[in-house]
Amino acid sequence: MNDKLEQELKSELAQLESQNLLWKPRTLNGPSCVRAKIEGKDVVMLCSNNYLGLANHRSLRKAALSAIKSHGAGSGSVRPIAGTMDLHLRLEELIAKFKHTEAALYYNSGFTANSGALPALLREGDIVISDELNHGSIIDGLRLTKAERQVYSHNDMSALETKLKEASAKNPKRILIVTDGVFSMDGDIAPLDQIVKLSEQYGAITYVDDAHGDGVLGDHGRGIVSHFKLEGRVDFEMGTFSKAFGTMGGLIATSKVAREYLLNKSRTWLLTGSHGPATVAASIAALELLEKDDRLVQKLWKNTKYYKKQLKSLGFDLGKSETPITPIMTYDSAKAQQMSKLLFDEGVYALPIVFPMVAKDKARIRTMITAEHKREDLDFAIEKIEKVGRTLGLIS
Ligand SMILES: Cc1ncc(COP(=O)(O)O)c(C=O)c1O
Repeated sequence: MNDKLEQELKSELAQLESQNLLWKPRTLNGPSCVRAKIEGKDVVMLCSNNYLGLANHRSLRKAALSAIKSHGAGSGSVRPIAGTMDLHLRLEELIAKFKHTEAALYYNSGFTANSGALPALLREGDIVISDELNHGSIIDGLRLTKAERQVYSHNDMSALETKLKEASAKNPKRILIVTDGVFSMDGDIAPLDQIVKLSEQYGAITYVDDAHGDGVLGDHGRGIVSHFKLEGRVDFEMGTFSKAFGTMGGLIATSKVAREYLLNKSRTWLLTGSHGPATVAASIAALELLEKDDRLVQKLWKNTKYYKKQLKSLGFDLGKSETPITPIMTYDSAKAQQMSKLLFDEGVYALPIVFPMVAKDKARIRTMITAEHKREDLDFAIEKIEKVGRTLGLIS
């Protein structure tokens, strides 16, 4: 390794460490599930996005094993050349059916869906208007476009309308509004009904990232568009299989024409090998399961309501969450780091969220509830959170 580079990298890493920003990912010694083993320690998982417990569900595991038998371990190619199997097309059909759209395109991840579709849709002379708290994959996608970028204050509809007025006055070729559906740091929901109304009023295009709404919001977990009953009025519904659906892959549910356009123009779709049979078949199994039965979605919300109610009654500040993403506000980043460490010692795994992921004075522990948590898991976690919360003076 080049000596000068090595020294520079070391010094940047030391700087991150001194700011408590250095990631040292912990290792799971087994499946992602509620009673997980992490680095040899048994813990109650409180920070996975496995909202419905599908990551280790027997139907998905069975589908994955059977697809390996019938289709092999890998796809062998990028999608446009020889990497489109019948399984990929079946999955796309099911996504469109689940989302009630004409068509859908499956990407390798939510990150590559955003970072590929947005630059494909936006050209020089267009204007994109983006919520200030949108996910990094949207921000990176927008950095790849030559379109003019405008940012509006988080969920502020009058700020959005001002940006729309200013954009319209410039007479651009396209105006596109992009927002997260559920915001991953706070667990609040975008007012998509109002966004769509404004979008229609100003002739804009609407693009929503439903990564944390898929499997969580709406009828059978169909997502934010179903939650607000906006079927047919949102141009692009982006989502992911890596959270509630338990597997891996990104999705864009849209019209047939837009699917064909994205398929031809998204470099993150065209230029990367496609997912292998196991992942695709397990993703199909996830959608088939949800289409048939919404009991896991119901259980997720029952657990979420119980957990939030208990923590609130103990006096914790849960910010503005409306979803299973439940921040426990510490405000102080050292306290958030300490809380996570103390919780881990007590057998509860939850991570601190500090600057730059959130503002400097908005540190928190982010906890995530799933359908797989049993009442005793939740009670165990609540008891430990209470104990640590008292030690740190978060509650009296
Ligand atoms: C809001 C949001 N969008 C997109 C992504 C990326 O999804 P994926 O994990 O499929 O790359 C995430 C995941 O972290 C997310 O939280």
